[in-house]
Amino acid sequence: MRKFNNIIVTGGAGFIGSNFIRYILDAAGYSGNVINLDKLTYAGNLESLSDIAEKYKDRYFFEKIDICDMNAVKDCIERYDADCVIHFAAESHVDRSIHGPADFIQTNIVGTFNLLEACRQHWQGRENTLFHHVSTDEVFGSLGETGYFYETTPYDPRSPYSASKASSDHIVNAYHHTYGMNITMSNCTNNYGQYQFPEKLIPVMLLNMLDEKPLPVYGDGMNIRDWLFVTDHCSGIWKIVLSGRIGKTYNIGGENEWTNISLVNRMCEITANLTGRDKDYFKKLITYVKDRPGHDRRYAIKCDKIKNELGWKQSVTFDEGLLLTVKWYLSNPEWISHVKSGEYRNWIDRNYSGR
Ligand SMILES: NC(=O)c1ccc[n+]([C@@H]2O[C@H](COP(=O)([O-])OP(=O)(O)OC[C@H]3O[C@@H](n4cnc5c(N)ncnc54)[C@H](O)[C@@H]3O)[C@@H](O)[C@H]2O)c1
Repeated sequence: MRKFNNIIVTGGAGFIGSNFIRYILDAAGYSGNVINLDKLTYAGNLESLSDIAEKYKDRYFFEKIDICDMNAVKDCIERYDADCVIHFAAESHVDRSIHGPADFIQTNIVGTFNLLEACRQHWQGRENTLFHHVSTDEVFGSLGETGYFYETTPYDPRSPYSASKASSDHIVNAYHHTYGMNITMSNCTNNYGQYQFPEKLIPVMLLNMLDEKPLPVYGDGMNIRDWLFVTDHCSGIWKIVLSGRIGKTYNIGGENEWTNISLVNRMCEITANLTGRDKDYFKKLITYVKDRPGHDRRYAIKCDKIKNELGWKQSVTFDEGLLLTVKWYLSNPEWISHVKSGEYRNWIDRNYSGR
C-alpha cells in the first residue's frame, strides 16, 4: 500500500473534493497533511469544510490558487513538497459548458496540463509520488438501451464539458507514457449527496420543491443516468490512490440506473414524507422543458475492475442515499441560504426560473 505525507487535493472546496477531504481525514484515518488547492469559483464553498478546517488545523491547509496560473501551482507544489496530487478541480456543469465553453477549456485542459508539468518538474527522479486524475463516464459518449461503458470503451465525448475532460484524460495518460509519471485515473458516474451545489439535478429539484417552484425536467424525462452516493466515490478514489495499479484507469459506478423522471418522482415522495405532506404533493410542480442540446441518452458503467482488483464496492443503496441527502439539505438551511445569496442566485434564476 502506498503512503503519502503531503497530499494536494485540487478542487477541495467543491462538491466531491470537500467530501473527499472529509472522508480521508475523518473516516479513512489518513495521518499526513492535506492541502486544499482551489480557486473558489462559484462552485467552491469553504463553508462545506469549516468543521474539518477547525478539527485538523495542524494538518489541513487551504491555498486559493487558480490551476491556470502555472507559477502559483509550481510554488504550491514545491512549498508543501507534495508527493501526491488528487485532481478534482474542474468546471463541472454540462449546461454551463454549452453556454460558455471557454472556462472549461482553460481550467479542465490547460489547468490539468499545468499541474502535470509542475509535478513532473518537482518529482524528477522520485519514486513514491502519484498524480490521480478524477474524471467522468461522460467521456465515453451516449449509450442506447443496452450495453455498458468499460475502461476500454473508446472515447466519444459530446459536450464541451465531456470533451474537455476527455482531453485532460489523454494528457494525463500521455504524461505516464512519455515521462513515466506515476498516474492513476478514475471515471465515475453521476454523484449525489451532501454539499452538492444547487445547479445539478438532485439539489435543484429539492430546493425548488422547498420553494414550491417548477421542477424542470428536460425533454421526455427518459434520459438515464447511473447514480452513486458521493462517499462511495470517495472510498473508490482512495483505494485507487493507495493500491491501484500505476498507469491504469478504473471505472467507478453505482450500478443504479434511473430515468430522470423516475428519480424526480422518487425525490418528490421522499421529500413529501419528510416534510409531512401528501405523497404526491410535490409532483404537481414537475414541468417538462426543452431538451438540452446534444443531451446524451443513457450512461451506464461496468466497474468490475475496481471491485475485483481493489475490493471496492458501493455501500449505500439509492434509497438510503436519497434519504440521507434530502435529510441533509433539510437540516442545513444556513448552508443553502449562503449558497443562494451568491452568483448561484443570478445564474439559476436566469436558467431555471419559470420554466
Ligand atoms: N459531480 C459528478 O457527478 C461527477 C461525476 C464524475 C466525475 N466528476 C468530476 O469530479 C470532479 C469534481 O466534481 P464536482 O462535482 O465536485 O465539481 P464542483 O463544480 O462542485 O467543484 C469544482 C471545484 O473546482 C474548483 N475550481 C474550478 N476551477 C478552478 C481553477 N481554475 N483552479 C482551481 N480550482 C478550480 C471550484 O472552485 C470548485 O471548488 C470534476 O473533475 C468532475 O469532472 C464529477
